[in-house]
Amino acid sequence: MIEKNSIEQLKNTIDIVDVIGNYIELKKAGTNYKALCPFHNEDTPSFVVSPAKQIFHCFGCQKGGDAIKFVMEYEKLSYPEAIEKLASMYNFTLSYGSKKESLSSLFKALESINELYKKELIHTPKALEYLKKRGVLHSSIERFELGYAPDGPKQIAHLKSRFVPLQEAIEAGILAQQEGRVYARLKDRITFPIYSPNGALIAFGGRTLGDHPAKYLNSPETKIFHKSKVLYGYHLAKQDIYAQKRLILCEGYMDVVMLHQAGFTTAVATLGTALTPSHLPLLRRGEPKVIVAYDGDKAGMAAALKAAKLLSVSDIEGGVVLFGRGEDPADMVQKGAIEQLEKLFNAPRPFIEFVLDTTIKQYDLSNPKEKEKALLAAVEYLRTLSPLLQEEYKHYLAALLEILPSKIPLRPQKKGPQKSQSLETKDIAEQSILKTILLNPSLLNSVLDIVTPEHFIYHKEEFKLLLENKLDHPKLREILLDEDIHPIAPDMLTQALLRLLIQYYEQKIQKILKEDIPFTQKSFFIRKYKDNITKLKRGEPVIE
Ligand code: UTP
Ligand code: MN
Repeated sequence: MIEKNSIEQLKNTIDIVDVIGNYIELKKAGTNYKALCPFHNEDTPSFVVSPAKQIFHCFGCQKGGDAIKFVMEYEKLSYPEAIEKLASMYNFTLSYGSKKESLSSLFKALESINELYKKELIHTPKALEYLKKRGVLHSSIERFELGYAPDGPKQIAHLKSRFVPLQEAIEAGILAQQEGRVYARLKDRITFPIYSPNGALIAFGGRTLGDHPAKYLNSPETKIFHKSKVLYGYHLAKQDIYAQKRLILCEGYMDVVMLHQAGFTTAVATLGTALTPSHLPLLRRGEPKVIVAYDGDKAGMAAALKAAKLLSVSDIEGGVVLFGRGEDPADMVQKGAIEQLEKLFNAPRPFIEFVLDTTIKQYDLSNPKEKEKALLAAVEYLRTLSPLLQEEYKHYLAALLEILPSKIPLRPQKKGPQKSQSLETKDIAEQSILKTILLNPSLLNSVLDIVTPEHFIYHKEEFKLLLENKLDHPKLREILLDEDIHPIAPDMLTQALLRLLIQYYEQKIQKILKEDIPFTQKSFFIRKYKDNITKLKRGEPVIE
């Protein structure tokens, strides 16, 4: 954990104009700086950086925040990752709780053994020969830093020569200890370094070159390696995942290496485990469409079904691609079926359809009892989806089973009141009031003596956000940075609030005129509102 204090100090050290200026070209415009927004496509700049407020905001896509937020968005980093990036940009030394200190020695151990593995590969003809046979090009060996794990004593000697304490190599998952004997976990294997999304080396996978019963071995869970949160190849695929809004999810290391080699640079893989909810945060980054590309065998199909269920229920878009019997993406690349792959990836079977198809296929529909079981199984799944999707796919399922949609027992849907869509309009007077409070939050209390959110006709939501202290909300940032909105001088604020109330009662009169209520009632309210307006115009408060 980075210490809070340290983050505050860093924030005080950096200037947002300087930080953002490192990434994109900023042009001075009044007190602010402008640029073409790096987060969406545009021809005229709507991206504004305010040195005074140390925030940025895009009036086009609503993205905004402080310097850390910018680095997170631009570099696709998590919060701590962005802080570390900024710290290194400004030569700032962050202080960590004691935990992190010990972690850096694990990274060092892994990096040092990776050097040996990479060097060994070049000097091990049978390993090079193997990779060549599988169709792996030299460029891929370099990109993925493939290596070769030699025998244990060689690895231990290397670690010692690099002054890596064996205890740390054990904690990093490189070595293991049994009955006092220390040995290397990976031996006579092709090594696949596993990186965190931020590009830190955290573990290894290794494929045997001999006839070891475990074809692949992964590092064990360590303080820095949590298998079910990591995707192999993510750090290399990240940029393109964001750009293409597509992510290809495979089963194996070789699939990832070969797909990247064939130009499918958004391929990643789980690490010998099924897809679980703990993978989802990483999968969601950049909101890509997820394409599940598992092996074309029985196990692959079963895993794809599980993944498709999880992803559809989690509201992640995408679909499944199936390969021929016993084939996987790596095989397809090796045999040069690139065009075919392209076609498959461009037209995956959408998750929900895939789950329904596969579920139904497990039953013999000519047998009514079986057909009923198929229906129940499909309905059980459908019910995990949103009401809208349930309704949508009810018809699809009905067609599959050749029954009437009304025979599908889905939960009745709640019919809530339709929200009336108010016309989106802005009001400069209301915005000025909001800006005044934003610039001087201590005014809020006295403002509340005069108005409540309901009195804002156009910007109720923004006023509520202010009350909830959500000062980082895009809508508030927009008001803060819009130079056409001018704050009100303190002695004029009460006047402005009274005008707001007048406008409010005038609107109420217009509304009640249109209402279908008895005349006496109507005139009572109109008189009351007009009274209020008269008082307000005299500068007197009104009591509801
Ligand atoms: P596969 O057996 O499909 O791997 O297992 P592959 O990449 O197609 O194998 P080869 O090299 O082409 O023969 C898929 C993934 O399952 C995990 C590994 O992560 C592997 O990449 N696995 C497989 C293991 O962890 N251990 C094993 O013994 C086998
Ligand atoms: Mn495979």
